[in-house]
Formats: sequence, structure tokens, C-alpha cells
Amino acid sequence: MAVITCIADLKELHRKRTPKMFFDYCESGSYTEQTFRENISDFAQVRLRQKVAVDMSGRSTESAMIDQKVAMPVALAPVGMTGMQRADGEIKAARAAAKFGVPFTLSTMSICSIEDVAAQSPAPFWFQLYVMRDEDFVDAIIERAKTAGCSALVLTLDLQILGQRHKDLKNGLSAPPKLTLPNIVNMATKVQWGLEMLGTPRRFFGNIVGHAKGVNDPSSLMTWTAEQFDPKLDWSKIARIRDQWGGKLILKGILDAEDARMAADFGADAIVVSNHGGRQLDGALSTIRMLPSILAAVGDRTEVFLDSGIRSGQDVLKALALGATGTMIGRAFIYGLGAMGEAGVTAALEIIRKELDTSMALCGERDVKALRRENLLVPEGFF
Ligand code: FNR
Repeated sequence: MAVITCIADLKELHRKRTPKMFFDYCESGSYTEQTFRENISDFAQVRLRQKVAVDMSGRSTESAMIDQKVAMPVALAPVGMTGMQRADGEIKAARAAAKFGVPFTLSTMSICSIEDVAAQSPAPFWFQLYVMRDEDFVDAIIERAKTAGCSALVLTLDLQILGQRHKDLKNGLSAPPKLTLPNIVNMATKVQWGLEMLGTPRRFFGNIVGHAKGVNDPSSLMTWTAEQFDPKLDWSKIARIRDQWGGKLILKGILDAEDARMAADFGADAIVVSNHGGRQLDGALSTIRMLPSILAAVGDRTEVFLDSGIRSGQDVLKALALGATGTMIGRAFIYGLGAMGEAGVTAALEIIRKELDTSMALCGERDVKALRRENLLVPEGFF
């Protein structure tokens, strides 16, 4: 592919350069994938209002998320197994984000450990926690995130039980990949991926293997994880984690106004309106559709970020104009990583910033913080 102009181009390169099992892991939603699809198609229904003959010089996409300055209000969302899309994927993405000036979030289910990333990232990052039944493990990983200087804890609330993704089962998803004939054939054509992986030996699932009781190799990890998500996670457990962490707390995976109100009452620094990119409750509504009712429920008591379905700067603009103060991208940066490593993550961020800046100007706005509902045209009955 000669010229990369948009996130869709990065996605096609990612598809070509990454073993099918890992591309599909990124590109799928749960069950019928209705929510996964609608996250994207609903963004397309919200339209932008063009304005002309206004001074559009001196524009800025700079803003803040949880009081941290950002080059644009777009953070990298936590994505498990990022280090299987490219060797050292988490480190590459963290570096690209730090250089660009946006937050990177490291998943509990990352390949590189908190310590690996901290050693190589030029800026503090956010750490995402999945709450496990094993409280010793949870306590220890919170301490590790503190020691590593992580600047926020992102607590994910929408994955205490796993939604099923058909493709992952059909592909026999595992890390490292199982050496079945189709896998070997598929991987053989991904030469650069294989050479990088072989040349960058790391412990798989560095946050867990060797740190959780009885998990000493990746094969035991899959079983451990499936059994470990704590089904009893409730507000009292969240309070325990908040007290132990003691720093900025972001609650991720909220899709309901009532839950959002409770999160605001609880004192979360921010919430992320998210349906996990359509990977959990299939049939749930898209995040962009749910956003206004959630904003109305929390007022200005907590910051509201949105993810799920963002593939362009125009999508970011729509979320901000509705009232979100920040956004997160998952697949959009993973496509870049799978396509071109660290340079690809930078390319994804640059594409989104340029689209955001251009569209903002054409809407007659100069400052990303001034975007508002009047910049949008929304079909009646949409929300
Ligand atoms: C995710 N997501 C996710 N969330 C989380 O809190 N912890 C995790 O480990 C993961 N892992 C993960 C893997 C993959 C491959 C994807 C695509 C997503 C969800 C993620 O943080 C975010 O909510 C979505 O990716 C947002 O949707 P888009 O931007 O991918 O459409």
C-alpha cells in the first residue's frame, strides 16, 4: 500500500501483516457482533454542522484529561495481548503515546509487564485493572502500578464474566499460538512479525505469569484467567481498591445512566462510557447513543470519557460536542501497531488529530474545548 491516509488503511495493513488469530482477536465483537457494528454505524448517523466565514486561525486540539495535559483528548485504551500484534507492542504504543502527548493505558492482560513498560516509556502511563478473585494478586498488582509511577488506575467494570467471540474459539486463540497446521501456514507468510517475535523474547502475560499463585507458564494462564474474574465485584470492593490505590481513579465500562450516577456519587475522577468495543454484552446500545443520558445523570461531578467505535477525528469531535471531555481509542491504534509498529501508532494518532482539527475548523470552531451540541445535527429520536 503506497500511501496511508486513514485508519481504514492501517487496518488493511494490520490484516496483511499479522497472523489471523491475532488480527481476528482485535477485529471481532461478541456473539452476533450487533453492538460492535452499531458502535460504528451510529457514529455515522450523528452529523456535523458546517459553518463558514468565521475566523479559523490559531486552532488548538489541546485539552486535559483528569487534570493531565493532552495534545488532544484521545487516550489509548487498554488492550489485552497488544504485545502479540507486534513484539513489545505495549512498549511501542506507550512510547508513541508519550511522544505525541496523550495517555497510554496498560492492560492487566498485557504481554509486557508493568515494569517492562515503565522502564522504556518516556512518560507515566495509566494502568487498567481487572478485579480477580485472588485479593493478594490484586493488592500486589496495585502496589506494582504505584511503584512504577502509573498516574491513574482504570478499573474495568464490564468484564466480570467473559462474552464469547466466535472467531477466537474457531481460531484456537492462544499466546503463544498453538502450532497447528493452519497456524503454521498462516504465520509463515508473516515473516516480519515472526522475526520480531523471535528476536524479542519476553515472558507472556508479564503482569500475571510468575506473579499469581500457580501461574508459571502461559498455558496455565488461560485457565486461571477464565476462572479468576471476580463475579462478586461490587461497590464495596471498588471502594477497597480505591482506598488502596489512593490516586486518580477512572471507572471504565459504564453504559447506563443509573450506574453513572452511582459512579459520580462514589467520587470517581472520571468514567469511561464503554461497551468494551462491542466485545461483551451483544445487544447493548452504542456508546454514542447512551452518552447524553449519562452526561445528564452525572452533571459536572465527574469527567466523562467515551470509547467504542471511534475510527476518525470526526468521531472524536462528535463525542466531545455532545459533552464528553475525553475519548479513548482501542482498535484504531492497534491497527497502526499491527501495520507499522511504533510508527503506525504515531500515524494513527496523527491521522485522528488532523481529521479532528480540519473538521473542527469546518464547523467554525477553533478550540476543541469549545465544541458543543450546536456543532451537531442529530436525527430526531436518535437518543
Ligand atoms: C479490548 N478492551 C479491553 N478493555 C480493558 O479494560 N482491558 C483489556 O484488557 C481489554 N482488551 C481488549 C482487547 C482488544 C483486542 C480490544 C479490541 C479491546 C476494550 C478497550 O479498552 C476499549 O474499550 C475498546 O477497544 C473501545 O472500542 P474500539 O475503539 O476498539 O472500537
